[in-house]
Amino acid sequence: MHKSKFYVTTPIYYVNDQPHVGHAYTTVLADVLARYHRLLGTPTFFLTGTDEHGQKVAKAAAAAGLTPQEQADKTVVRFQQLWKKLGITNDDFLRTTEARHKTVVQQMLADLYKRGEIYRAEYDGWYCVPCERFFTEKDLIEGTCPDCRRPVEKIKEANYFFRMGKYQQWLIEYIQDHPKFIQPDFRRNETLGFLRQPLNDLCISRPKSRLPWGIELPFDADYVCYVWFDALVNYISAIGYRADDATFKKWWPASVQLIGKDILTTHTVYWPTMLKACAVPLPEMVFAHGWWLTGGSKMSKTTGNVVDPMDMIERFGVDAFRYFLIAEMVMGQDASFTEDSFVRRFNADLANDLGNLLSRLVNMTTRYFEGKLPAPAEDALKGGEEKTVWDTVQAAVTTLERSVVDLRLHEGAGAAIVAVKAINRYLELKQPWTMAKQPDKAPLATTLFTAAECLRVAAGLLYPVMPEKMMVVLSSLGQTDTTPKLDELRAWGVLQPGAPLKDFGPLFPRVEKTEEASGQKSEVSQKKAQPAAKPAPEKTNVVELLDYDHFAKLDLRTAKIINAAKIEGADKLLKLEVFVGEERRQIVAGIALYYAPEKLIGKMVVIVANLKPAKIRGVESQGMLLAASKGEKLVLVTLDGELSSGAKVK
Ligand code: MSP
Repeated sequence: MHKSKFYVTTPIYYVNDQPHVGHAYTTVLADVLARYHRLLGTPTFFLTGTDEHGQKVAKAAAAAGLTPQEQADKTVVRFQQLWKKLGITNDDFLRTTEARHKTVVQQMLADLYKRGEIYRAEYDGWYCVPCERFFTEKDLIEGTCPDCRRPVEKIKEANYFFRMGKYQQWLIEYIQDHPKFIQPDFRRNETLGFLRQPLNDLCISRPKSRLPWGIELPFDADYVCYVWFDALVNYISAIGYRADDATFKKWWPASVQLIGKDILTTHTVYWPTMLKACAVPLPEMVFAHGWWLTGGSKMSKTTGNVVDPMDMIERFGVDAFRYFLIAEMVMGQDASFTEDSFVRRFNADLANDLGNLLSRLVNMTTRYFEGKLPAPAEDALKGGEEKTVWDTVQAAVTTLERSVVDLRLHEGAGAAIVAVKAINRYLELKQPWTMAKQPDKAPLATTLFTAAECLRVAAGLLYPVMPEKMMVVLSSLGQTDTTPKLDELRAWGVLQPGAPLKDFGPLFPRVEKTEEASGQKSEVSQKKAQPAAKPAPEKTNVVELLDYDHFAKLDLRTAKIINAAKIEGADKLLKLEVFVGEERRQIVAGIALYYAPEKLIGKMVVIVANLKPAKIRGVESQGMLLAASKGEKLVLVTLDGELSSGAKVK
């Protein structure tokens, strides 16, 4: 489990458009892995960046009336801002237009050319512009690109080729001998299937006359380097290949290279043969995850069905979004991104299970132990429900550890939530609220401590996925150092009895399903198409669930209106005089458009009696009337029966 180092990479993203959920997914996966390894104490390096050369970027720049470099400079910021917002802890961010990268690519090209690994030849074949790839006649499917099924162009020109074909047999054997190199297993089989056909040499140049935007070939100034041959090198140029041997040796080979399944061939055929030709060892693992789909097809800029991660973060919070990405997608498989499933998972796992557990614990500790974590019995874990719940939590630790090694992070997150559910169940079984009525407080203390200690472990497990919120949980539980230590996840009794627990309010305020999110039209992509229907920001679609204690703080009373008058210069306000029992009060209410003053006199209403007095338009208001409103209508809350004023409403 403990590695000597951990080096994780994401693909570098094209700067032809803004990032979407698909890009965010790979980057969050890498971030969770990096954070987890850092917690283990493993020296970790996490690289991401942008792919700034090639046809796609040149085309987007032309469409925007910018130079390709301007296009890159403008778009890269969007990726960098998103990663910042998403709490991504990359150690480096490489742009392929940086000198440190370009130099390495040119050195590699020069070296390969000198050694005859790259040669010049006449090319006569088919070219797919969007994919930037050459195909032979037999590769085509019904005359279209075998990858994207778009029309291809006939091209005849002199170009430079990398002798990829000569590595075919070596690569097949390497893949067979290193079953972990391509993951999941079915992707390995896919690459082996691809390698059953003869492997052609790879065209690595583009004539500047056709595409000037790229790294110039060091041996022919009329050509630039093929964007993939340039981009793949980022994984080694960033860590000092040919520039800083010690750093390069420290990190390479990469432990995990995360990619989407769309770029399997480039990473499991081009990349390993390039490395082999340069006598550089291969990465330990290339893991290809599935696609986020919307409306059944791949979320992509081309399809136009993208979900904006910034929008999701603004509405639901960064940690909830990270959690959804990790928990919802079985790593390796495709998954659908719908707002409905987002809201369902948010409410079930985060608001109900996790958030409620924390607030129950803090509230009961406040009520029964003056807010200080009580000490458990010394033999708390010897058996019974305490041992059962602790064992479940420990099983989650085991699952999570395995899920990081096997790249099944969804299972790790799932196990942590199963543990949280078990803690809730434990409280239901023990019924601390009933125990609190007994004179002996020791069993109650053990129950609350056990639940808190189990929650500490669950929060530690979820920390790499939801760092901000889990810090809140750990701080609420009285931990001063809110970075969990992974070796403490196995230890009982880390929380300090006597430590004050803190109440930071609801951890994940429940999300109310908007019509849009609960009905059939719940897909985010559909919503994007109708900006007018965009749900209101967080405040209006989030309902905070209150504990009874919070509600009980409100002093609601019946009150009799004995006087009402308009306030000069304020069309909407009335000044009311009410009796609350024996007490006479003045209240300013915004009901002038709905009630004539004289109609109010004698009415029994409900007021919030313990509201701090405030001045409204210079008139003191000592409370607030309750009223219900919908659309254009507003009616006062009154009593369904006779009762004197000053009665408590509960
Ligand atoms: N620039 C190349 C990669 C070069 S790596 C040396 C590229 N860029 S990209 O902007 O198109 O992003 C590709 C990556 O973004 C995918 O491999 C995947 O990791 C992620 N995703 C883009 N769309 C996606 C989905 N709809 N679903 C999941 N991830 C996807 O290809």
